[in-house]
Amino acid sequence: MATHSLFLLPGDGIGPEIMAEVKGLIDLLNARGIASFTTDEGLVGGAAYDAHGAAISEADMAKALAADAVLFGAVGGPKWDGVPYAVRPEAGLLRLRKDLGLFANLRPAICYPALADASSLKREVVEGLDILIVRELTGGVYFGEPKEIVTLEDGQKRAVDTQLYTTSEIERIARVAFDLARTRGGRVASAEKRNVMKSGVLWNQVVTRVGKDEYPDVALEHVLADNCAMQLVRWPKQYDVIVCDNLFGDILSDVAAMLTGSLGMLPSASLGAPDPATGTRKALYEPVHGSAPDIAGKGIANPIAMIASFAMALRYSFGLVDLSDKLDQAIAAVLARGLRTRDIGGDGATLVSTREMGEAIRTEFQALLG
Ligand code: NAD
Ligand code: IPM
Ligand code: MN
Repeated sequence: MATHSLFLLPGDGIGPEIMAEVKGLIDLLNARGIASFTTDEGLVGGAAYDAHGAAISEADMAKALAADAVLFGAVGGPKWDGVPYAVRPEAGLLRLRKDLGLFANLRPAICYPALADASSLKREVVEGLDILIVRELTGGVYFGEPKEIVTLEDGQKRAVDTQLYTTSEIERIARVAFDLARTRGGRVASAEKRNVMKSGVLWNQVVTRVGKDEYPDVALEHVLADNCAMQLVRWPKQYDVIVCDNLFGDILSDVAAMLTGSLGMLPSASLGAPDPATGTRKALYEPVHGSAPDIAGKGIANPIAMIASFAMALRYSFGLVDLSDKLDQAIAAVLARGLRTRDIGGDGATLVSTREMGEAIRTEFQALLG
């Protein structure tokens, strides 16, 4: 049996609380001899800043680069609001994405049947929802230069961020979206703002050409990103795969999260390009949500986004598709039984802690493993 190395970066706030529930799953798989994982753990975000004065140490960066996959909790919090910009907690995550070349961020938004009433939208709008946001993750305004605040001669300041995309950056993320659409509903919606932004014009042209030349079997539509946000809350089931740049993807995926009931439900996979020699790709798996400082330390965070991110690791990094499916089924089954963390709680729900939710999912998973 192949042994896979996992590098765990729990981070800050609720990060360690939700990561603990994934550790329980890793231990279970190892103990049952169903899969073989080695784990190592590092510091990222505010935790790394407190220990090393950096958002991630060089030693932990090296471990992240060497691992088969990185599991990431969350970073940030008010404690680090005043630290220098270059070493703020979020910089650790951005460096991991950039240095590992994780250009493709997959953010599936699935509304579990039991949670259709947990969304702030009407049941019929979200019931059965299964969409996938493919977010470009290493380019755009997050990384474009110049990125600075300069003082002008008259004493006022000027801030600049640069939205920047090249043809090849757009081509490769478009191909990820088209390839995934072929495994799902066969439809891609490309969101940009070509009516205002030159990067949107190029994005539109390149996605159109890739679609026409390489994926004539996939239906492609273009939507302005602001309209896409509106459509997501009006009738989200019109979409299958949505592909967009780094910033629009950040915003649209938080919108999509609420369709599923809570930000605490949305997992993600961040993938690099396949290595030409081995076919393997660098990967990091993390929930879409942040460190939730308002509920950190209370033991009430929803661990499902983190656990579902581990399910994505099983699928995309290790080809353990059957295990991944079973873990998703375990989540669905526990929700169907009425167990709820507070963020998804509703009438008649049994409110449980982070730990109890994690344990219930592990018990269900174990039963499914037979
Ligand atoms: P957030 O996602 O941390 O929280 C937004 C709201 O959702 C809060 O009310 C929180 O309690 C709730 N929430 C989030 N995850 C939850 C969960 N698993 N269970 C239950 N409720 C949950 O966003 P924010 O408050 O805007 O940001 C807090 C910090 O997190 C900031 O420093 C931000 O930069 C950082 N952040 C980090 C990541 C990441 O590490 N990937 C992502 C987003 C934000
Ligand atoms: C996300 C987060 C990050 C982002 C932050 C923490 C840098 O909001 O992963 O959605 O903006 O990409
Ligand atoms: Mn975000």
